[in-house]
Amino acid sequence: MADPFQNVDAHGSDFVETVVSVLYNRAHEPVMAGIVDDYLAGLDFPDGGVHIEIGAGSGDISRQIAARAKGGAVIGIDPSEGLIAAAKKGTPVPGLSFETGDGAALRFGDGSVDNVVMHTVLSHVPDPARLLSEAARVLKPGGRLVVCDADFEKMSLGNGFADPMQACAQYFAEHFVTDKYLTARLRPLVMAAGLTVERFSLTSRTITTGTGARNWVAMGGRKMVETGLIGPGLLDALLAEHDRRAEEGTLFGHQPFVTLQAMKPRA
Ligand SMILES: C[S@@+](CC[C@H](N)C(=O)[O-])C[C@H]1O[C@@H](n2cnc3c(N)ncnc32)[C@H](O)[C@@H]1O
Repeated sequence: MADPFQNVDAHGSDFVETVVSVLYNRAHEPVMAGIVDDYLAGLDFPDGGVHIEIGAGSGDISRQIAARAKGGAVIGIDPSEGLIAAAKKGTPVPGLSFETGDGAALRFGDGSVDNVVMHTVLSHVPDPARLLSEAARVLKPGGRLVVCDADFEKMSLGNGFADPMQACAQYFAEHFVTDKYLTARLRPLVMAAGLTVERFSLTSRTITTGTGARNWVAMGGRKMVETGLIGPGLLDALLAEHDRRAEEGTLFGHQPFVTLQAMKPRA
């Protein structure tokens, strides 16, 4: 079955609520906030500038962009009405707005946007090249694109051979991601869109506490139950095992995150 992030609303209001809380918690992990701060530091935010986040979800990353882009407009765009409604419920921030839209067909004119950010979006779409060519179209010459995405093929939660926690992480990547190898293909995709790659770097999202890896167990494990691989009792046990490791200090979740920055050439 298709990655549910391709059409979040179709999976019901409980899924929308789960996604809102997963995204909020992830954006507020110190390591993730640091990754975002670091790539925003490489961008210019001129007075009166226009900055868009494609696939903004419930708006946590757009809020971080808006904190940097004072004096400009930040627009968070996402196809999910449920997630955009959640984004709009947050505390209003001057210059920040949210709207529904598809990253493959933006309403913005050619050369009208200063910065485009895509944070864990391209790994969830069937045709990333279309979103990248739209980003290239709307960027001003000299404007910048940032793509930040996980290398889902290499995420791990296992502490040893045949660790069932690893199976949960693998199930999560298999059922909640469209292209686990997106980060490996990212540079040529961005270059094919006519943009010049200025930075390509990797940071570890390491999870030893909190709910980041619990989501992999809950979502991946629930999928195992749905597909009939395991019964609900084992899912409860897997969650309990996650919590035991978190409490005892033996939890080790890992997800490499790639940051790519590219510029639209000046004519
Ligand atoms: C994992 S979430 C990331 C949300 C947000 N960037 C964050 O990190 O908090 C992926 C988002 O991509 C959105 N998405 C899926 N297909 C899209 C498309 N064609 N155009 C724009 N966004 C899309 C989903 O609705 C979802 O909100």
